[in-house]
Amino acid sequence: MRRLGYACTKLRLLPLLCASCLLTPILLVLLRPHHVCAANGDTLTHEDHNYPRLQTLPELLELEVDGGNYESEFVGADRSIIGRAEDGVTALANNAPGISTIKQGSTDFWTFPSKALWGVSSPPVPGLPSPLQGQSSSPTPAAGEKILYISLTTCIQPSPKSANQNGTPDQFKFYVSTSSSNQKPNNSDNAIAVPVDGGFGWLNISVKSDVFIGVFAPYNTDFSGTYNYQLTASIDGFYASYYNEPNGDFIDSDSNTALLYTKSVTSETTSNATSVFQKWMSGPPAFSMFVYKQDDPRILGIQNSYCALESWAPVQVSGAIGTSMTLIRDGQPRQQFHVTNLNGSSSYYATTVIHGNSTASGGGYVNGGGTVWNPLNFTTKSDNNCALVFNLTFCTSVAYAAPSNPTNKTLSPMLGAKYDDYAASLYTNFSRSLAQIPCNTTASAQYSLARTCTDCDNAYRDWLCAVSIPRCEDFSNNASYLQPRAVNQLFLNGTNGSVTSNDPVFKPDNFSRVYYSSSRNPMIDTDIQPGPYKEILPCKDLCYELVRSCPAALQFGCPLEGHGLNWSYGDSIGMHLYPPTCNSLSSSKGGAAVLRGMGFSAVFMAFGTALITVMI
Ligand SMILES: *[C@@H]1O[C@H](CO)[C@@H](O)[C@H](O)[C@H]1NC(C)=O
Ligand SMILES: *[C@@H]1O[C@H](CO)[C@@H](O)[C@H](O)[C@H]1NC(C)=O
Ligand SMILES: *[C@@H]1O[C@H](CO)[C@@H](O)[C@H](O)[C@H]1NC(C)=O
Ligand SMILES: *[C@@H]1O[C@H](CO)[C@@H](O)[C@H](O)[C@H]1NC(C)=O
Ligand SMILES: *[C@@H]1O[C@H](CO)[C@@H](O)[C@H](O)[C@H]1NC(C)=O
Ligand SMILES: *[C@@H]1O[C@H](CO)[C@@H](O)[C@H](O)[C@H]1NC(C)=O
Ligand SMILES: *[C@@H]1O[C@H](CO)[C@@H](O)[C@H](O)[C@H]1NC(C)=O
Ligand SMILES: *[C@@H]1O[C@H](CO)[C@@H](O)[C@H](O)[C@H]1NC(C)=O
Ligand SMILES: *[C@@H]1O[C@H](CO)[C@@H](O)[C@H](O)[C@H]1NC(C)=O
Ligand SMILES: *[C@@H]1O[C@H](CO)[C@@H](O)[C@H](O)[C@H]1NC(C)=O
Ligand SMILES: *[C@@H]1O[C@H](CO)[C@@H](O)[C@H](O)[C@H]1NC(C)=O
Ligand SMILES: *[C@@H]1O[C@H](CO)[C@@H](O)[C@H](O)[C@H]1NC(C)=O
Repeated sequence: MRRLGYACTKLRLLPLLCASCLLTPILLVLLRPHHVCAANGDTLTHEDHNYPRLQTLPELLELEVDGGNYESEFVGADRSIIGRAEDGVTALANNAPGISTIKQGSTDFWTFPSKALWGVSSPPVPGLPSPLQGQSSSPTPAAGEKILYISLTTCIQPSPKSANQNGTPDQFKFYVSTSSSNQKPNNSDNAIAVPVDGGFGWLNISVKSDVFIGVFAPYNTDFSGTYNYQLTASIDGFYASYYNEPNGDFIDSDSNTALLYTKSVTSETTSNATSVFQKWMSGPPAFSMFVYKQDDPRILGIQNSYCALESWAPVQVSGAIGTSMTLIRDGQPRQQFHVTNLNGSSSYYATTVIHGNSTASGGGYVNGGGTVWNPLNFTTKSDNNCALVFNLTFCTSVAYAAPSNPTNKTLSPMLGAKYDDYAASLYTNFSRSLAQIPCNTTASAQYSLARTCTDCDNAYRDWLCAVSIPRCEDFSNNASYLQPRAVNQLFLNGTNGSVTSNDPVFKPDNFSRVYYSSSRNPMIDTDIQPGPYKEILPCKDLCYELVRSCPAALQFGCPLEGHGLNWSYGDSIGMHLYPPTCNSLSSSKGGAAVLRGMGFSAVFMAFGTALITVMI
């Protein structure tokens, strides 16, 4: 799939932009199939790039502008319809981007005429099921005025003159004037200077008449070529938007894929019975994602601009993102992205975006220019014996890399199910034991007034999933909170792990210790055989929560400090860091339990009413 800007088909963007779409080798991934760049006879061929053009098709204007006469004259760029505007000032129509390719050191002037300001608003649309966190509400216009939403996105910036040059070209200077005596604003005298950052600037302003806009392209001695941008004014809402914060979280990666979620789209108290909740879960996914390597600097300077991200095209990774809604973490809807075909040991940016208004995009549509959030950054793992495991049926909170063995082709596609089935089978005996505890009796007969069997059951599931599905890290990762495992096994490439290790954390005699030489879960060593890896230990809190929540008859206990606790559990203080210093199961709760003094292998036994669980 090659994905290019709407401008290529709808607005016939300049050949320069289309050519750049084809050549720029950034990794760009987007979900929705989209318009294909059709170079055609309508493409403008002006050599004078300093001439701003309103490349708007008649049908777009018919949608937006009040009165038939107005747009027919307008499309011909007849000066007379702009009324009081001076020469060299181009008129914008509602929601129709003015697109310009501009030389460094020159200025374009635009106006949004009073007639368009008082024209007909776009009809209401359903919008997203609920407003997103961080989106500000619309301002109220002053009496006798209207709010005008103006956004500027830089689509192309000049390139460095020399290949090894650092830095980015300067940002546009962007001025907005409401005074008919300042129709060509080129500084902040009698005009608003709108900041432009990362190729994006916006302003909402209450006005009653013509608005005048100046866009100045700075001159950069070390960069050659022109700028290209889209300037759009709207009486309905911002055409393009950008939020100065990331929307979501990077969850985990393996050596060639990564898992990311958006923030939850509802508030934490939204019930799953509400229609808002159900619309989010059943509707088409609202978000898309661009993923690109951090070591390619060419997007820096325009990374906040949707048209820049979009025209940065060829898709290096085709069909490379799987997405769906998920309720992981807190039970509220989030959109999940599984990005594949990545390179190992590489750092990427992942930018969450909304393509247009999420169902329609481009000129003529309210919010048609897209929404961009700050990028998330992530790094892929270097060793290939950790693999992402998520979307499990029993361990629904598990979403991280677990020990794997890519050389076993039978195993790879069923790795998640193998772990999940294993945990579910261990749970069966536990639930039999729990069923024998008086849970659903009168309050006086209950084992605790504060905790119920449901609490115990939930705590056990979390603990069990965290201890049976270890969170895997590269063996080469030297972080001090990581526990080496299976160190006596050969690496997958046949190298002897104990010989090649230069890990500063543990000493040669550690190799004889069971908590180094084996996995915490014996099934991993027998059936998966991942070779040496490191584990982010389950958080201590998972164990403490289990002990607190379950009846004493079940005899759960956590190992003591100095007696195995530190080989088995990680410090909960770092559970919300990235990377987390302990596995809290998607950071909803904390980690896992061990019975005191029972050795280091996993044993599950049922003794009458009591289940004894021993696990490190
Ligand atoms: C996007 O805009 C189109 C055209 O106005 C409209 O039909 C559609 O409902 C809008 N989508 C949303 C999610 O508002
Ligand atoms: C638009 O107006 C709202 C409400 O006054 C304000 O909070 C917001 O910051 C404004 N946005 C921009 C980009 O000016
Ligand atoms: C800004 O505009 C004024 C009046 O049109 C003009 O005299 C001045 O030279 C311009 N300044 C720049 C830096 O272009
Ligand atoms: C809704 O949430 C409740 C608990 O909050 C859960 O028991 C129920 O299964 C959920 N319903 C659906 C349809 O997911
Ligand atoms: C990344 O992987 C692709 C194949 O998946 C390969 O063609 C490309 O050269 C790799 N890039 C780097 C920088 O290793
Ligand atoms: C990536 O994120 C980490 C932690 O959030 C931060 O320390 C690091 O500087 C970021 N890297 C880049 C290149 O932004
Ligand atoms: C084998 O794999 C290990 C772990 O990935 C690595 O440290 C080692 O250098 C590799 N050895 C060879 C010969 O490739
Ligand atoms: C999650 O698993 C269900 C079946 O268990 C499957 O239908 C769905 O496509 C999976 N989703 C993802 C994102 O893998
Ligand atoms: C591959 O994994 C499967 C499932 O764990 C296992 O049954 C099989 O023996 C493994 N094959 C090899 C060659 O290790
Ligand atoms: C306790 O009763 C509730 C509702 O009657 C039921 O859902 C739950 O499974 C029971 N718990 C046990 C451990 O039997
Ligand atoms: C781990 O530490 C060893 C010894 O200090 C060093 O050689 C190696 O490069 C480190 N590995 C990483 C990934 O930092
Ligand atoms: C479950 O309990 C049965 C009967 O006590 C026992 O034979 C079986 O091994 C147990 N299963 C596990 C996974 O511990």
